[in-house]
Amino acid sequence: MAVWNLGSINIDNVYRVPHLPAAGETLAAMEFSQGLGGKGANMSVAIARAAARVAHIGAVGPEGKWTVDRLMEYGVDTRPIQVMTEHATGHANIAVAEDGENQIVLFAGSNRAISSSAVGQALAEASPGDTFITQNETNGQREAAEMARQLGLRVVYAAAPFDPDAVRELLPFVDLLVLNQVEAEQLEAALGKPVHALGIEDVVVTLGSDGCLWLSGSGEETHVPAISVTPVDTTGAGDTFTGYLVAGLDRGMPMRQALDLATQAGALMVTRLGTADVIPDLKEIEDAKLG
Ligand code: RIB
Repeated sequence: MAVWNLGSINIDNVYRVPHLPAAGETLAAMEFSQGLGGKGANMSVAIARAAARVAHIGAVGPEGKWTVDRLMEYGVDTRPIQVMTEHATGHANIAVAEDGENQIVLFAGSNRAISSSAVGQALAEASPGDTFITQNETNGQREAAEMARQLGLRVVYAAAPFDPDAVRELLPFVDLLVLNQVEAEQLEAALGKPVHALGIEDVVVTLGSDGCLWLSGSGEETHVPAISVTPVDTTGAGDTFTGYLVAGLDRGMPMRQALDLATQAGALMVTRLGTADVIPDLKEIEDAKLG
């Protein structure tokens, strides 16, 4: 099996700051680092580190070729990534406060210029039973999800950054929806029905320090408790969770086992500063003995 990820690739500029900046405030950073990021790239790296096959469908500008090399070094199939001359690579400026909370300013760049023919060419190599995943940082999500569904792939939507209209468009094609509690409430308000009544096979609602809730199509609710850690940086922890969840399912794990593994991966990720470059692998998770 394999995972096909239509996802963003960002250059992440990470600033460690004493507190998150207020409106109009100028703040000196205590530390700066630049690395690979983007919700899509983070998930691809997490999927590869969780020992599943993953191909990344995306686009970068000429100055971002190093991000493609890095994805490849991490074991991601990068053949479906376009290098464009007319768009800059997406980037994110991320402030991380002492308590691990963050504030992110995003510039989409080439992430919103992915050609539909590139998506079609990539998915033409997929097989029924493979997994397709996307998030809300690229263009072309609906068309790709529809195509993936027609090809017999399991379709996963990680609904972040959250936009109820984007979710509404993808709903008819989605088998597994992953979103956080605030997003679930916003979606319920926008659609006028609870998330467990959307007609989706599986919904996973992440609850931060309370773990997550799995709502299965058969109406069952399963709570998976969180693992308590001291947070250093919460950035990318949700992406790591989702990547590990999807990798586990693609490798044939039952949902509960995949959720347990994803919870451990997300918890370990919270103890690290940075994004794709510091996503833990299976061995590190095993050695950390988090629960
Ligand atoms: O979820 C974290 C990610 O959000 C960062 O890597 C940043 O690039 C933004 O896409």
